[in-house]
Amino acid sequence: MPNRKPGLRFPVFSWLHNKVHGKPALVVEVAQTGDLTPLSEIHHAGFSNGWSDGELEKMLAGPGYSCLVARREGGGTKPPLGFVIIRSVLDEAEVITIAVNPGARRGGIARYLMEESIRRLQSDRIKTLFLEVAEGNEAAKSLYAGLGFSQISDRRGYYPSKGTGETTAANALVMKRDLG
Ligand SMILES: CC(C)(COP(=O)(O)OP(=O)(O)OC[C@H]1O[C@@H](n2cnc3c(N)ncnc32)[C@H](O)[C@@H]1OP(=O)(O)O)[C@@H](O)C(=O)NCCC(=O)NCCS
Repeated sequence: MPNRKPGLRFPVFSWLHNKVHGKPALVVEVAQTGDLTPLSEIHHAGFSNGWSDGELEKMLAGPGYSCLVARREGGGTKPPLGFVIIRSVLDEAEVITIAVNPGARRGGIARYLMEESIRRLQSDRIKTLFLEVAEGNEAAKSLYAGLGFSQISDRRGYYPSKGTGETTAANALVMKRDLG
C-alpha cells in the first residue's frame, strides 16, 4: 500500500456519510502519511500545545495507536477536516486527541469521527472507551455527553497552563463509555 508507514497502515475503510441536513457527504478513513502536515495544522488550531507532524508520526508508529480522518467526499484525496487518535490496549481504549478544523466545526464532523471509532472498537471487541477533557471545554464535554460518555473521576491540575494565558493548570474530567 503506497505512502503509508507503520502505525498508519491499517486497511483503508471508508465510511460514506450520506447527505444529512443538506451538508456535503463525508468520508471517514484511516489517516495516510500525507495527512500528517494538515493534521498538525488542525491540532495547532485546536490546542495551545499542538503537535508537530513529526510528533504525530512518532505517536502513530506506537503500538495500539490508530488515526481516523474525515474529509469531504469527492474525486481525489481531499484535505482532512478533522481527525481522532485512539490508543487500544487489550480490551480498553482511550481517545488520545480529537480536533476539527475551525472552519468546519459545528457540522457534525467530530461526532461522525467518534461514532465511526466506536463502531470499529466494538468490532475489535474493545469493551470500554476512556477519555480526558478539560473541565472548561464545554464543546467537547457536550460532544462526549451526547455520545453516552459519563464522568468517572477528575484529575486536578492535569493540563499545564503554559501558553494558555491561564495562571493555574486546568482540571481534567475522566469520562468513560461502555462499548458492550
Ligand atoms: C470539540 C470539537 C472537536 C467539536 O468538533 P465539531 O466537529 O465542531 O463537533 P460536532 O459538530 O460534531 O458537534 C457534536 C456535538 O458537540 C457539541 N458541540 C460542538 N461544538 C460545540 C460548541 N462550540 N458549543 C457547545 N457544544 C458544542 C454539541 O453537543 C454538538 O451537538 P449538536 O450539534 O447536536 O449541538 C472542536 O470544537 C474542536 O476541534 N475543538 C478544539 C480541540 C478540542 O477541544 N478537542 C477536544 C479535546 S478533549
